[in-house]
Amino acid sequence: MFAKVESMGLNGLKAFSVAVESNTEKGTPDFRIGGLGDASVQESRMRVLAAMENSGFDGSRLKVTVNLSPADVRKSGSSYDFPILVSILAALGEISGVPEGSVFIGELSLSGELAGTNGVLPMAAAAKENGVRNLFLPEANVKEASLVRGINIYGIKNIAQLTAFLNGKEHIAPAPPYIPDTDGCAAVADFADVKGQENIKAAIQTAAAGFHNLLMIGPPGAGKSMLAKRISGILPPMTFEESIETTSVYSVAGMLDDKSPLITLRPFRAVSHTASAVGIIGGGKTPMPGEISLAHNGVLFLDELPEFRRDVLETLRQPLEDRRIVITRAQGKASFPCKTMLVAAMNPCPCGNYGSEGKCTCTPAAITKYLGKISRPVLDRIDIQIEVGAVKYAELRSEQKGLSSAEMLENIQKARELQEKRFKGTDILFNGEIPPAKLKEYCLMDSEAEEFLQNTFDKLGLSARAYDRILKVARTVADIDGEEVISRRHISKAVQYRSLDRKYWQ
Ligand SMILES: Nc1ncnc2c1ncn2[C@@H]1O[C@H](COP(=O)(O)OP(=O)(O)O)[C@@H](O)[C@H]1O
Ligand SMILES: [Mg+2]
Ligand SMILES: [Zn+2]
Repeated sequence: MFAKVESMGLNGLKAFSVAVESNTEKGTPDFRIGGLGDASVQESRMRVLAAMENSGFDGSRLKVTVNLSPADVRKSGSSYDFPILVSILAALGEISGVPEGSVFIGELSLSGELAGTNGVLPMAAAAKENGVRNLFLPEANVKEASLVRGINIYGIKNIAQLTAFLNGKEHIAPAPPYIPDTDGCAAVADFADVKGQENIKAAIQTAAAGFHNLLMIGPPGAGKSMLAKRISGILPPMTFEESIETTSVYSVAGMLDDKSPLITLRPFRAVSHTASAVGIIGGGKTPMPGEISLAHNGVLFLDELPEFRRDVLETLRQPLEDRRIVITRAQGKASFPCKTMLVAAMNPCPCGNYGSEGKCTCTPAAITKYLGKISRPVLDRIDIQIEVGAVKYAELRSEQKGLSSAEMLENIQKARELQEKRFKGTDILFNGEIPPAKLKEYCLMDSEAEEFLQNTFDKLGLSARAYDRILKVARTVADIDGEEVISRRHISKAVQYRSLDRKYWQ
């Protein structure tokens, strides 16, 4: 007998429909799965047979052929176990029928219980888009799936329960929509702990307000790591759409927590310099997101930047520019979003004192080699570059209160609101994302500012790219000031935030 049920597959963050067909006959036992399923899909045979037996069905004399279509798209993972078994049971007549517009996703344990699977959120969202009405999946994935509204989500414990439901012997209610708790905030250290360094904090505030990449350079102990770690406490709240996007990445990576399945705080990913290129960028046989995508809509923090392998740093160029990473495989392409704010920190030389008051003991060649680890194109993608000097003793001892994270966040929120108005109806959220073609429209300057920028451009011999970046940062500086028209002092600040590369990378 023959039966067909619907499921979903995943490529990168993109979900697609998969029809699971089964043909059963009496005869010499045999079980084949066709339709470009990789080794992980082939393994499903043993789980399906065991789950079937342990749910009270006889699979001992079964000759079954399963086909996953479209047959020319590669499929991987364990989430086809459930639809395969449902289609077999339907072909055998053990299930009287499947409601119109139903999709099945899930892994089976040998006992017939359903086990949670990765990537359910993007699959549920795509199912909804395709007009699917009912989604049957493991209980462990219910909360995550029910972030998608307008589709019935059925959390299933085991095969026996599902067959009882489909045969009208048991009732299962669809899950209520999951309403995430969004008023959480990151419990991180406060910027108020940082004494002095007010101009540095202002630069960091600008970076966070416009989602600009940031580089801090300075001697050891100046507080670079201390400052960077406090950034997650001043990031503006995520929109619901951003939350869903970021959560989808974590869903595919299998990193969602069943208790709080929606990511509502911007991620802050501090990456070790020992991480591999695949770990940072993503990749693998079944493409998985890397750290840069786990930082989607949040921060990717690379401390001690020159300690990273040069080839790893170079692979960051394309994703930093495109905000999307494309992984090419023989079977096709997968892509993951990576709209992140890169925060990097580094010493200027191996001993750390070059360019500051302390005595540098490095040879010129050693300094050049050290700084050379960061290539021009990578530097060019970092809008805000600042020098962090050691805090003065008097400032360190001072009881005077500096900017706190709460105050910084308030300024950032104001700048955020102006950006929201400015970019309404576009897919831009932050000034850091303004494409070159739109700079003129969004970055209005008064004539004095224009003249100043022109002079600076000529005097410093800036590249076109540097010009664009200065303009974007000036846009954010003006937004923090609550001003729509950029004036000279905004440009001047933005130029200051770009003077480092001339000092160190001349
Ligand atoms: N401005 C500052 N205010 C308070 N403490 C500071 C300041 N700068 C540095 N420190 C202290 O020095 C320590 C070392 O700073 P760290 O962030 O590790 O420096 P870096 O990363 O630049 O080498 C911090 O943990 C902190 O205790
Ligand atoms: Mg440090
Ligand atoms: Zn040195």
